[in-house]
Amino acid sequence: MRRAIYPGSFDPVTNGHLDIIERGCKLFDEIIIAILVHPEKKPFFSIEERRDMLEQVLKPIQQPQCSLRVDSFDGLLVHYALAQKADAIVRGIRAISDYEYELQMALMNRRLEPGIETVFMMPAETYSYVSSRLVKEVFQLGGTLDGLVPPLIEERMKAKLRSS
Ligand code: PNS
Repeated sequence: MRRAIYPGSFDPVTNGHLDIIERGCKLFDEIIIAILVHPEKKPFFSIEERRDMLEQVLKPIQQPQCSLRVDSFDGLLVHYALAQKADAIVRGIRAISDYEYELQMALMNRRLEPGIETVFMMPAETYSYVSSRLVKEVFQLGGTLDGLVPPLIEERMKAKLRSS
């Protein structure tokens, strides 16, 4: 039984995240998609909203050989990973620019908890420039999110804007 944690802010989940999860399913029996509770950050969506959206968009990609679970965590990622009895942390790397930050985090996590490996995965080239930050910026400035996030996420973003 190989269990991995896929941590992140997921504010909101993008097609790039889903691509990494689908690839991760080829390597792991279970992936816990773990949303970081960040008290200082002002997110677009609350933890509950992100959790619900993730659960919805994971349904179509769920496969029998790999269980997908959504959770949230605070504190150190390695402490959470240990508590979940995970073998690995999955992180997506889109470009060289991601590598430096990701390498630092992976090495710090290894120092803190040598038993947990970090696995870097590359998304499809189509998503190599997609980030939650840019998705929010494009949306707020009126651009289309077609192909960048699942339609449900764009709908939820529009609903959020209407209600604010
Ligand atoms: O998608 P993000 O926002 O780039 O994800 C960053 C995340 C959640 C992986 C990172 O901020 C994290 O692990 N935070 C938990 C606190 C922690 O363990 N810090 C030490 C890591 S070196």
